[in-house]
Amino acid sequence: MSWVKPSCWNTSLLMVVLPLFLLSPLFSFRLVRCDADHFGSAFKIMEEFSGYPVGEPDALLSLSVGTDDLLKQIDELAAFSDTPAPSVTRVIYTDKDVAARRYVKNLMKGAGLSVREDAVGNIFGRWVGSEPDLPAVATGSHMDAIPYSGKYDGVVGVLGAIEAINVLRRYGFKPKRSLEIVLFTSEEPTRFGISCLGSRLLAGSEELLKSLKSTVDAQNISFLDAARYAGYAQDQDDISSVVLKKGTYASFVELHIEQGPILEEEGTSIGIVTAIAAPASIKVDFEGGGGHAGAVLMPNRNDAGLAAAELALAVEKHVLESGSIDTVGTVGILDLHPGAINSIPSKAHLEIDTRDIDEGRRNEVIKKIHQSAFRIANNRGVKLSEFKIVNQDPPALSDESIIRAMEIASTELNLSRKLMISRAYHDSLFMARISPMGMIFIPCYKGYSHKPEEYSSMEDIANGVKVLALTLVKLSLT
Ligand code: GLV
Ligand code: MN
Ligand code: MN
Repeated sequence: MSWVKPSCWNTSLLMVVLPLFLLSPLFSFRLVRCDADHFGSAFKIMEEFSGYPVGEPDALLSLSVGTDDLLKQIDELAAFSDTPAPSVTRVIYTDKDVAARRYVKNLMKGAGLSVREDAVGNIFGRWVGSEPDLPAVATGSHMDAIPYSGKYDGVVGVLGAIEAINVLRRYGFKPKRSLEIVLFTSEEPTRFGISCLGSRLLAGSEELLKSLKSTVDAQNISFLDAARYAGYAQDQDDISSVVLKKGTYASFVELHIEQGPILEEEGTSIGIVTAIAAPASIKVDFEGGGGHAGAVLMPNRNDAGLAAAELALAVEKHVLESGSIDTVGTVGILDLHPGAINSIPSKAHLEIDTRDIDEGRRNEVIKKIHQSAFRIANNRGVKLSEFKIVNQDPPALSDESIIRAMEIASTELNLSRKLMISRAYHDSLFMARISPMGMIFIPCYKGYSHKPEEYSSMEDIANGVKVLALTLVKLSLT
């Protein structure tokens, strides 16, 4: 069995291949036959252009993933939830989050990784390579879960990465560049209204470093107090220590469920992400006169709730006006005050999420929403007390050489693949600011996500882990 052409062998590759030869009787290797004439030349070209080791077309390696353990871990992690199964709710710095962090750190240690945490609770597990001074290759994702969501979003990219490391260790691989798993703090904006909080900080967002000092949650608990409760941010001034220098990582690859229906519908095993859509979120507050629901006559009302309802419909209208299927907008939060059936809402709070793969078109939608908010407030005699663009992030492009490494890995594993964009955002959006980035998608049932019905089969997860493992091998050896 060989998985590299003899002409490409170097010491590091021998360190991979020799143990594989020695251990091969102990593991199940599957020989996959390809159309050698067709693939033989294609592999040669891929290898020459990519600079990555490419396996023999007729003897591809079948990495054996510990699916029983992984399945058990996904279920065990899902139990750290503030809502009953099958839903998962895990919000940062809560007791459940802290317990889940402990669980993942133990798994990292069990995989032989040296674990460190930064001031906001990004967790890093490192497998030191034979050339530890070279920038490391990183992978990872998040494990916080929005209220009443599922157990795969983010988790597959964390537990799957740990299993990828376990697989590589079992096969005797020795990395040249260190391999590092990152568990990002708060990819979801649930508690503090800030998406990708951990990765945004790692990428050096000055704006966030400043605003975090005064950020509070819905219960008025400050970000720093919440972080301290979870054992982080012990020194108020040390949040900036989180920032990573550009070049810390040679590459970053995230494994994630697709969260859309395309791969499943097409029967494709692997999605290779070429770009991540540009997300934005906005907070809006209206203030009206309030009053008695029976006594105040309709012409005399300044109903903040109706202003919010009208704005929600305006969001839909402006999104549809873009004329592109890629423009989306959602009002996911709409709170009325005082929240009594017989009281006219005196305050209304909305949170709006809008995204597009085209940043300019997304910005045009934001402009129109702003204009509508003014107009509605005027017409209804309510005050637009806040219109705050919380984030307005540009899209991110995957790195060509990482795309190539993922493509080659998929080919070697004989897995069908497709280039696609990510409509959901991910920590990779921010890692792309400091490192070449790539993402591997796997199918999920009917594209369901952010709800308890979210599901990916073990076979699909194992495929994702294999592609991740092989991609890490290639990136580590370059
Ligand atoms: C990520 O959770 C997203 O909302 O895209
Ligand atoms: Mn999510
Ligand atoms: Mn996610």
